[in-house]
Amino acid sequence: MRPYRRYAPLRTIEKQSEPPMGSAKNTPPYEKITEALLHWYGVNRRDLPWRRRRDPYAIWVAEVMLQQTRVETVIPYYERFLARFPTLQDLAAAPMEEVLKAWEGLGYYARARHLHRAARMLMQEHGGSFPQTLPEWRRLPGVGAYIAAAVLSIAFGQDLPAIDGNGVRVLARLFAVAEDPRRPEGRRRLQALAERLLPRGQAGDFNQALMDLGATLCTPKAPRCLTCPLQAFCAAFHQGDPEAFPIRAPRRPLPHYDVTAGVIQDGDRVLIAQRPPEGMLGGLWEFPGGKVEPGESMEECLKRELREELGIEVEVLEPMMTIRHAYTHMRITLHVFRCRWVGGTLRPAGCADARWVRIEELDRYPFPNTDRQIVERLKEEKNGE
Ligand code: ADE
Ligand code: SF4
Repeated sequence: MRPYRRYAPLRTIEKQSEPPMGSAKNTPPYEKITEALLHWYGVNRRDLPWRRRRDPYAIWVAEVMLQQTRVETVIPYYERFLARFPTLQDLAAAPMEEVLKAWEGLGYYARARHLHRAARMLMQEHGGSFPQTLPEWRRLPGVGAYIAAAVLSIAFGQDLPAIDGNGVRVLARLFAVAEDPRRPEGRRRLQALAERLLPRGQAGDFNQALMDLGATLCTPKAPRCLTCPLQAFCAAFHQGDPEAFPIRAPRRPLPHYDVTAGVIQDGDRVLIAQRPPEGMLGGLWEFPGGKVEPGESMEECLKRELREELGIEVEVLEPMMTIRHAYTHMRITLHVFRCRWVGGTLRPAGCADARWVRIEELDRYPFPNTDRQIVERLKEEKNGE
């Protein structure tokens, strides 16, 4: 007699381990992938300010801001920047300091300096019009492969892939790319895949669709594969661990530095210094100070820096605040002290300029995020008096 079974025995679901369409031996269905992506984008594209504009200037500014900064952070800056500098002509005619002021808080200030310099070059050498080839764009300051391809595809409809960080993640997962995208082999592989997928005449939409998918569904952590239009084609999804892509070599911890800054007041005015025009945070204003050398105390550091940079002797008084900040290549702890001027005459040497400024006028100057916190503290103190 056959044993009685109330339910049919469970069978393993063979489908589950089946490779995705196009993985392993088969050629991936590139056309289907692109079609699914573009269709999804047609329905789900984000309504972003730069997508309402066609002019290359507005698109260029957006891409420069977006290259290192998140969309939500960029939007208010973008609107203000274009209101203040509506055209290439306006940007080229503006003083550098005003451009930096409009950029204050966005970080990576070299972007603003390069944008401004490039605007002037376009006005002087290109009659105020925009180039339409990759090599010409690449010659402009601050314009790398990504920005050039993004502007040419989005503003001029050229058939060029422009893959930002989001696009890298989506492609690396979709094709389970085994190479590190930060290394040349990985970059080449992703570039080749993007070229193979690129729909002729729709590169701008394709590029932005990859960005949107990466920003909204194919996120770094916990991608939403179950609602993803590319799931059926996605090698990383079928392998079971999409977060494993893009693969990356372990990162070395960032070096850390202690840095001092001095707040020297004279009545309601305070001494600020401008950083040299090139280099890190170039052209921005700050409270003078610098990196603590090995074996040096904070106090010794501050006295030495103010002597070297400004030619003045100070007495270091009480600590005022401590600010931590991470840049791409290092972390700092900024130790802020109040100081009293005891000798010497002001003669800016290691900086571009130095000025006594009334606290209520500090807002006119562009400061890095760290020093902006000191400005806010000084304003609070003044208003609390
Ligand atoms: N990131 C970089 N460029 C972008 C764009 N055009 N739209 C959305 N996010 C972006
Ligand atoms: Fe990214 Fe998942 Fe979509 Fe693959 S299925 S592209 S991992 S969201």
